Amino acid sequence: MIRVCIAGATGWTGKALVAAVLKSQTFELSGAVARQSAGRDIGEAIGFSRCGVIVSGSVREALAAPTDVLIDYSHPTVVKEHVLTSLKLGVPAVIGTSGLKPEDFEEIRLEAESWNLGVIAAGNFSITAALAKHCALLAAKYLPHREILDYAQADKPDVPSGTTRELAESLARVRANEMVKPIADLIGPKEARGVCVEGTPIHSLRLPGYTLAFETAFGLPDERLTIRHDAGTSAEPYVAGTLLAAERVRNLKGLVRGLDTLLFKE
Ligand SMILES: NC(=O)c1ccc[n+]([C@@H]2O[C@H](COP(=O)([O-])OP(=O)(O)OC[C@H]3O[C@@H](n4cnc5c(N)ncnc54)[C@H](OP(=O)(O)O)[C@@H]3O)[C@@H](O)[C@H]2O)c1
Repeated sequence: MIRVCIAGATGWTGKALVAAVLKSQTFELSGAVARQSAGRDIGEAIGFSRCGVIVSGSVREALAAPTDVLIDYSHPTVVKEHVLTSLKLGVPAVIGTSGLKPEDFEEIRLEAESWNLGVIAAGNFSITAALAKHCALLAAKYLPHREILDYAQADKPDVPSGTTRELAESLARVRANEMVKPIADLIGPKEARGVCVEGTPIHSLRLPGYTLAFETAFGLPDERLTIRHDAGTSAEPYVAGTLLAAERVRNLKGLVRGLDTLLFKE
């Protein structure tokens, strides 16, 4: 059995993962982290029956129990600290939480390498979203002009989403985006063209009634290609990909980014 500790265990994604791990024949829940439910049984805290795992208020405290992998779906402000703590305690990590910047990933990569441990981070652990990204990377080989649309619910705390930030960074590695009219030459507020991540503009919508979706729009004279992924309202799409990463991360060293890297590049 693979023993996992889930940080953010009482959250929207964490709850779905706890439920899947408690039912699994492959995984065992060794720990759970969340501040408000600290001291309670995690099963009870998320509306199931008691399971014997008590919620800890910190990752350090939770990892006192023998653990093979930390899975983090907590908050952008604490995820880096959680992962660095985990590595120092000899535990590889899977990062679902968004909001980390390139310099944060660099710090995590160096730390993982120094401990000879693995970390897998993906802005989107949905397998169909990984397919959408894979298709966009393929299209970028042939199409020089692109922009990204990032949709989410009104109260999502970070912008742009981890999914679209990671997509823009990966697209840049395939080819540079060509802007027909440079942003610097435009008349009017430059913000209207979105935020440029590694040369690709990302436009973020945050509205009631919307759920997570992203779209890579490619344009050529008189034709368009759109590659879009839409998630529903539950956290179910992220469970299988996260658990796949938790299985694989134990045999890795250093940082791997993107579920598509795990699925399509091995
Ligand atoms: N990569 C992907 O596929 C994917 C999919 C879904 C979501 N996400 C990302 O995952 C993150 C979590 O999303 P969510 O919607 O599940 O969030 P959520 O519902 O707000 O849940 C957050 C969880 O983290 C805990 N938490 C918050 N701050 C904490 C802190 N300082 N220390 C310890 N625990 C803390 C919360 O409990 P307490 O407040 O009680 O501490 C709660 O259990 C976000 O960054 C989101 O964008 C990524």
